[in-house]
Amino acid sequence: MTDRKMLRLGGFFSVPGNHLAGWRHPDAIPTYDMDFQGYAHITQVAEAAKFDCIFFQDTVGVSGSRALARGERARAKLSRTVKLEPTATLAALAMVTEHIGLVATATTTYNEPYNIARRFMSIDHISNGRAGWNLVTSQIEDESENFGFDQHMPHAERYERAAEFYEVVTGLWDSWEDEGALLRDKASGIYMDRDKVHFLDHVGKHFKVKGPLNITRSVQGWPVIAQAGSSEAGRELAARTADVVFTAQTKIAEAKAFYADIKRRAAKYGRAPEDIKIMPGLTPVLGATTEQATANYERLQALMPDDVALLSLSHISGGLDLTKFPLDGPLPELPPSNAAKARQALIVQTARENNMTLRQIARHTAAGTGHRVIVGTPDYMADEMQKWLEEEAADGFNVVCNHYPRPFEDFCTQVVPELQRRGIFRSEYEGATLRENLGLRKPENRYQRAARLKEAS
Ligand SMILES: Cc1cc2nc3c(=O)[nH]c(=O)nc-3n(C[C@H](O)[C@H](O)[C@H](O)COP(=O)(O)O)c2cc1C
Repeated sequence: MTDRKMLRLGGFFSVPGNHLAGWRHPDAIPTYDMDFQGYAHITQVAEAAKFDCIFFQDTVGVSGSRALARGERARAKLSRTVKLEPTATLAALAMVTEHIGLVATATTTYNEPYNIARRFMSIDHISNGRAGWNLVTSQIEDESENFGFDQHMPHAERYERAAEFYEVVTGLWDSWEDEGALLRDKASGIYMDRDKVHFLDHVGKHFKVKGPLNITRSVQGWPVIAQAGSSEAGRELAARTADVVFTAQTKIAEAKAFYADIKRRAAKYGRAPEDIKIMPGLTPVLGATTEQATANYERLQALMPDDVALLSLSHISGGLDLTKFPLDGPLPELPPSNAAKARQALIVQTARENNMTLRQIARHTAAGTGHRVIVGTPDYMADEMQKWLEEEAADGFNVVCNHYPRPFEDFCTQVVPELQRRGIFRSEYEGATLRENLGLRKPENRYQRAARLKEAS
């Protein structure tokens, strides 16, 4: 064992590629978005490289569907519109992997906590303790119309609901005590110990849930909780409840400030800095030389039409129609966004600081969806990752690729060995569960903790 701080790596699988024109690259397999074999291949490649987890984002609808319904032609060029439902996918992936963590998004805005508690705990059992839930409040406003609403729920209310949702889900997960709740005693005919099963009896503003959950805790206690909101409300909820924080950070100074802020907030809730792992997104564009990597990036950017690039700004535009503004003029003032506040702030700041035109910021955003794009050699990439780790800008990274499978395979075979050689990334999995591999504690059952504290007092 070494005392050296080790990187955490997640594979953020954005199908068919995170770059909006990535699917057009000659190496890309654009059918990966609906092909489970593609999902399985990427996950197995990540597992062979000893990644902590693979992560699937999700939206419960097609982004921009209102505009698509109005007949906006540019939308017909958009990828990232279809995907497999991630929790069903995780269950299938558990069958073709052994070690890697399996993490998926589920929104608290358009779900019910009992269903989510049951679904993720099932995956945790199926995978022997490798599941993770990325709790989001939904960044795509179009989702609302699939669930009986005309408008997306306001940001503050979404977070209020999310906080209560979290309490209900984790409360349900503790329904059954760890030892001896299920007796299954053939001789006596007693199936369960009634004293070891607990009713939640939750009555709150958004939910009324009696419990118990009809599924026991897993070997890691609960699935790992990830969160990806970076607004004030998002940070506060993450600091209180998240094991892992996914974030979009493009500059080391700001990443360090975000890192320090989340860890400082966590202390308020009695949590230690190492209880939360902060993992910014990272998009690699590799080349054997810097010139080759730059040429690879330019080849990719040349595949992207301006009208498609502009669409990458639509979900943070606060409803403003950006097509009305000159492409070579500045990014106009945007009204407040009810969707993704932190992402809007990041993009506006990037445009203003770099004096970018509307066309330039749109092309920049479409290339990385706000995540940091690193163009360079494997060595340069490892240098940057090591720097962010050592300077406390990140505990690890979520690697999200422009298209699949080639750039991800290249990252795993060219960058990961360099990280291992430097002694900042594992060569073997340390534990059996996702919590063990991430260095996280197993959460104690709240009812057993209450009994233990009562006995001690
Ligand atoms: C790496 C990463 C992954 C995300 N994945 C999702 C996702 O799958 N679905 C979603 O609705 N939002 C996703 N988000 C967005 C946020 O979780 C959040 O819902 C949105 O940004 C609004 O919250 P905020 O205003 O607190 O940032 C993701 C963000 C990041 C940084």
